[in-house]
Amino acid sequence: MRLLWVKSSRLVAVLITSLMVFVITGCGSDRIPKDILAPFSQATSETADLFYIVFWIAVVIFILVEGLLVFFVFRYQRRTQDEHPEQYHGNTRLEVTWTLIPAVILAVVFALTIRTMGSTGPSTPPPGTGVPIKVEGHQWWWEIQYDSGNVLTASELHMPTGQVMNVSLDSVDVIHSFWVPSLMGKTDTVPTHDNKTWILANVPGVYDGQCAEFCGTQHANMMFRVIVQNPPDYQQWLQGQQAPPVEPAAGSLAAQGKAVITDPANRCITCHAIKGTTAVGITGPNLTHFATRGCFAGCKFENNHDNLTKWLTNPEAMKPGNLMAQVLRAQNVQLTPDQVNALTAYLESLK
Ligand code: CUA
Repeated sequence: MRLLWVKSSRLVAVLITSLMVFVITGCGSDRIPKDILAPFSQATSETADLFYIVFWIAVVIFILVEGLLVFFVFRYQRRTQDEHPEQYHGNTRLEVTWTLIPAVILAVVFALTIRTMGSTGPSTPPPGTGVPIKVEGHQWWWEIQYDSGNVLTASELHMPTGQVMNVSLDSVDVIHSFWVPSLMGKTDTVPTHDNKTWILANVPGVYDGQCAEFCGTQHANMMFRVIVQNPPDYQQWLQGQQAPPVEPAAGSLAAQGKAVITDPANRCITCHAIKGTTAVGITGPNLTHFATRGCFAGCKFENNHDNLTKWLTNPEAMKPGNLMAQVLRAQNVQLTPDQVNALTAYLESLK
């Protein structure tokens, strides 16, 4: 008994500690977590409301049914060996009642669900003109296209407050699902099939998004961020993205990095594009303004010097199965520490 007590106290201590670590590290930033019950938009508020209505109806039914069950078990249990229950054959009034009540409850839940689907569903955006963007799923990262494809970015979707984003969804490989739990519901991205959805947010902030359809080894690490900004900030960001990046100073480490990335032998330009350079690949993330992004590789990593260095040295170890590691291995490319250092400096200059 005492051993059990010690063991369970230890378990509780471990649970509390891990919870604290999670709270401090996982939710310590200013990011709004993936939580459908912490709604930050009209659409998710309505969805959460519907959840609570159905939840509380279920709670009342559960208590009623289980309560009656327990009551009958005790109230009508056999008390003597020769005691027999009274025999019944059908009770029309009772049967009609227990059919009608659930039917009415289900009809109410159905009506509320249809109403919520109508106002929050992907095919019914709020009226008015929206900003058209395209989101493309890749194993395992997201590409976001603005301005008819003139601006290509990855992992971070910027949008202004108070304006509907009309999102056209596509995938280059398998089925993914685009989802920002605190802003909007899921919509699948299906190869060769153009799906549509929309996002409307009024509170500036950084919202976590997630691929919600199993799509391979790194499905869980196919994340993204939605950065909701005041319209002037959004416009400033968009203009920055439309311009080519600043050219690194001649002879600088970043300039050496540019030479590394544009050297065809290193294969970077087969997949990546950087405006104003010979890098025009389309299968990997567009790197034109890489340094303006807070995360990379499906938001698995914060965009910092240390992570970039590790990534360029050994992408397979960082995110097993990713396409870049496969291409480099197939082409027998391994960057030297000096090349990695220069390349990191160049990527950090791409503002
Ligand atoms: Cu993409 Cu799961």
